[in-house]
Amino acid sequence: MNGTVIGIAGPTVTVDLKGLRLYEIVLIGKAGLTGEVVRLERERAVVQVYEDTRGLALGESVRGTSRPLMAQLGPGLLSGMFDGLQRPLEKLLERDGPFIRGGSSASLLNSPREWRFSPLKAAGDRVTAGELIGQVEEGAFRHLVTAQQDGVLADLAAGSCNICQAVGSYSDGTPITVCQEWPVRRPRPCRRRLAPSEPLVTGQRVVDFLYPLARGGTAIIPGGFGTGKTILEQSVAKFSDVDMVVYVGCGERGNEMAELLEEFAGLDDPWTARRLMERTIVVANTSNMPVAAREASIYTAVTMAEYFRDMGYHVLLLADSISRWAEALREISSSLEEMPGEEGYPTYLASRMAGFMERAGVVETMNGSIGSLSMILSVSPPGGDFTEPVTQACLRTAGAFLMLDTSLAHRRHFPAVNWFQSYSLFEHGMEQHFSRTVAAGWAVARQRCRTMLQREEALREVAEIVGLEGMQEQDRLILHSAERIRLEFLCQNAYSEDAFCAPERIMAMIDAILADHDRLEGRLAAGETLEAALGTGGN
Ligand SMILES: Nc1ncnc2c1ncn2[C@@H]1O[C@H](COP(=O)(O)OP(=O)(O)OP(=O)(O)O)[C@@H](O)[C@H]1O
Ligand SMILES: [Mg+2]
Repeated sequence: MNGTVIGIAGPTVTVDLKGLRLYEIVLIGKAGLTGEVVRLERERAVVQVYEDTRGLALGESVRGTSRPLMAQLGPGLLSGMFDGLQRPLEKLLERDGPFIRGGSSASLLNSPREWRFSPLKAAGDRVTAGELIGQVEEGAFRHLVTAQQDGVLADLAAGSCNICQAVGSYSDGTPITVCQEWPVRRPRPCRRRLAPSEPLVTGQRVVDFLYPLARGGTAIIPGGFGTGKTILEQSVAKFSDVDMVVYVGCGERGNEMAELLEEFAGLDDPWTARRLMERTIVVANTSNMPVAAREASIYTAVTMAEYFRDMGYHVLLLADSISRWAEALREISSSLEEMPGEEGYPTYLASRMAGFMERAGVVETMNGSIGSLSMILSVSPPGGDFTEPVTQACLRTAGAFLMLDTSLAHRRHFPAVNWFQSYSLFEHGMEQHFSRTVAAGWAVARQRCRTMLQREEALREVAEIVGLEGMQEQDRLILHSAERIRLEFLCQNAYSEDAFCAPERIMAMIDAILADHDRLEGRLAAGETLEAALGTGGN
């Protein structure tokens, strides 16, 4: 089916092609740019184009593909770097140089790499869709191959294969490969969803101790310009104890992505001592790439993450920043002349975001194992105003809110997570978990730490009025200990040895500060001044 381009408005193109379906992929122009149908009218359709439309002319041809946007899922994804349309960037660099050419069609499927397939079922077995039928070794990972349909296996053999070679077939003749495709906008199925119950250790003290996250939960990191969103996301990508990390650079700076890749290539995973890159997938849709492709990159990434979740792995999806995706939605929506909602964002902004975030969770997979998909998304509210629509839309769904504070960042207190206004719905569950698994005193220490920070806040106002000299010794001790908590415990320099802190060390550090506090309190009770107690090595 062919048609022509009859209108071009930035990333949206109007075509006169009948019989298209909503969200069908169409190929546009001589270059074959990829686009997705976002609106159908009687005689024509509007397409959002995921590639640069510069140079496209009216009258160029358009072709429907009868398929939605699909992600290719199979061995070879790990340690890969892809653009929003899941084209491997290294391959594009080799072939086309540093700038992506529109219509490039490099894909995972035409990779010649060979894999060893070992069957777990035999010819004659009856299988149901989602059931495990074999596995492929991919580095240190066991890559599980599942049945794509119900049926009887006609044959299934061990051996080496590339990604599109058949390793067997069903009795109806359908070939079985180690790769599959999945429409990115459709969540992958699971048997049932479970409540998050295990912690997601990030290695960041302020997060793990004060606002812990759970595997299968969602967290947002809103923060104004330069408050440390990218550094925090990258630290979590390096240090969190998950099996796989999918990192989406969505509309952010290209050089940050380049640095991330360079740095990750030389690092080891602190939990397994394997190379960090072996467990990482990067989806890069930097600010210089086409706006509409941000939408594709978000959905492609979450589909890849779900694919690994379905093998029973714990997967973490990080996106920096989700606001750039919202901006892309706004741009497309306004060029479609839709009725604008708050601040020009489309009226479906909140439901679109919620639909995406609800793909996180702990699940019992179709083959009976337990896997999880967690999300940590940064949000860049313009002017640091948290009442803006994107932050508010994410807040409704997110399980944790790690608010980055501009004044802390100005004081170079990093990570600049505000310890009064952030929250985590997982805190009680995780507090109990850490009390059981790390140290019995976890919950008490946490409570004492929070109380001390709150008292400091109140006492600082008093100190401003009466001056430090006018205050009681006990209150000055609180100020002293709270300052230590802030500077020695909550601050964590991402560029030092301290960038990662295991839960056991978290406990040891806070314990040491609280024990010093108790000792000093004893001295004050015995009549000493704070200076005297501190001066004689009480600290
Ligand atoms: N944990 C940290 N340790 C030390 N320095 C940090 C830390 N976090 C942030 N910084 C400092 O803050 C600077 C800005 O951080 P970052 O680029 O992550 O901010 P951002 O919120 O992503 O900014 P933008 O809004 O521009 O994307 C960094 O270059 C670094 O100097
Ligand atoms: Mg940033």
